[in-house]
Amino acid sequence: MSGLNLFKRGTNIDIVRQFSNELSLLGRENGVDIMYQTVFKDKMFYVYPSEDPETYEFVYILSGEIEYEGNGEKQILKAHDYFTVKGLKSPEFFKAKTDVTYLWIITEPTFHQLSEDHRNLNDLIKKVESRDRYTFNHSERVAVYSMKVAKKLKLDTATANKLNRAAELHDIGKINVPVEILNKPGKLTKDEFDLIKKHPGDGADMVRKTSYSYLAEIIEQHHERIDGSGYPFGLKGNEITLEAKIIAVCDTYDAMTDDRAYRKALSPQFAIDELNRLSGIQYEPKVVQTFEEVLKEEGIIN
Ligand SMILES: [Fe+2]
Ligand SMILES: [Fe+2]
Repeated sequence: MSGLNLFKRGTNIDIVRQFSNELSLLGRENGVDIMYQTVFKDKMFYVYPSEDPETYEFVYILSGEIEYEGNGEKQILKAHDYFTVKGLKSPEFFKAKTDVTYLWIITEPTFHQLSEDHRNLNDLIKKVESRDRYTFNHSERVAVYSMKVAKKLKLDTATANKLNRAAELHDIGKINVPVEILNKPGKLTKDEFDLIKKHPGDGADMVRKTSYSYLAEIIEQHHERIDGSGYPFGLKGNEITLEAKIIAVCDTYDAMTDDRAYRKALSPQFAIDELNRLSGIQYEPKVVQTFEEVLKEEGIIN
């Protein structure tokens, strides 16, 4: 856009709304994206390492407070504080203490990743979670846990990004499971459970039709267990991708520590004891151990 251009408040090229945040593209020129983002109170967000070590990011906080959790130390950033990012080795985590708004400038096209497909799939997660009254924000929590495990395991950027998105989308196939079954308080019949068992495959088929087709395998495998006792295929050990094994642990933990139609939430300690009991049987020991370290560092368990 040449010449001088004035824009009034609320003007943007494009906008995406997600669970945890709202992102507006204000400007795009020479491969630089200028965005305005609102992250809602109590939501986590992270900055990823870029594939390109030269990529530079600049974030200037306009209002609200965020907490940065780095090297076991917590720091608060407020309006007019800012940070820059370049050559990051692993993801860095932030938590919005209040609703937060900031200006985000990045020297690589970023907003385009939040394309039509992204929007449609996010709408789908929202729909799935609204049908099952016990899974509100489940996918988002599983994604946050998964990224913390990824960081500890020092997964490369491409794998971590893939894991994050797959974790967010892991249950989209549940859109095909009748609401009555999702919310059934009692034990499921075999037929009902067979319907539930279709959700990993259905989810995989759904992303196969989008630009996220590379996530299909992970989504399809998130209920596989290393001893072959999982579904839909009964895959074993190394037949299951590491990403699916990470989601399996985080997903199970979140399901246990959240209220469900058929029982109350279990304590974090109970959940991790259970994961440890099944470590090496159903769950990958390295993943369980790393996840336990994450919970300890966060002070969730002792
Ligand atoms: Fe699932
Ligand atoms: Fe799940």
